[in-house]
Amino acid sequence: MPTKSVFPTKIYIEQLEHYRKLNKGLLHDIEILSQKDLEGIAWSKQHYQGGYTSYSSITDLHERFPDFIELRKAIDKHVKKYARSLNWDLMGRKLHMTVSWVSMMPKSTYHTMHTHPLSVISGTYYIDIPKGSSALKLEDPKMPFLMNAPPRKANAKAEEQNYLHIPAKNGQLVLFESWMRHEVPPQPVSNNRVSFSFNYEWF
Ligand SMILES: [Fe+2]
Repeated sequence: MPTKSVFPTKIYIEQLEHYRKLNKGLLHDIEILSQKDLEGIAWSKQHYQGGYTSYSSITDLHERFPDFIELRKAIDKHVKKYARSLNWDLMGRKLHMTVSWVSMMPKSTYHTMHTHPLSVISGTYYIDIPKGSSALKLEDPKMPFLMNAPPRKANAKAEEQNYLHIPAKNGQLVLFESWMRHEVPPQPVSNNRVSFSFNYEWF
């Protein structure tokens, strides 16, 4: 077939090493945050039904708490690798994690389609993922331009569909470019789906 794939959309999925011990500490920190972060609890009540997120209250976890600092250092290495694979010319500047937050999603909590404006790389790291938890759903960036195109066949390869579902897994890191629209569909099981999300900027 004389076709060629062009303009690739690369995402990065990797399991962190020695994640069990780190996740134990992170989960402990998050349990405390979810009880003591009154501003975050109040915000979550209004905007994150049933769950808890520090998204609007504590966004410098990666600079503040030892477990999160350790995690940030581990993620930095993967972000470097990802940037290399994207062939980015950083022009002497660096990529920095500027914002981070945690999310605890019990049954039915969800996060609708969104992007992370002003950042260049965003991602999630999975800390405590009960069996049957929601996947991360990415949208084909060509979606707004498809106009009258026919739908894809149901049996097309996962990466050739208009949506890609990446199963959440303990210790797994997922990186994508910040313009990529993504969502977390409603958590179908009652135990909390616990994750750490972040943005990197270039300066
Ligand atoms: Fe997001």
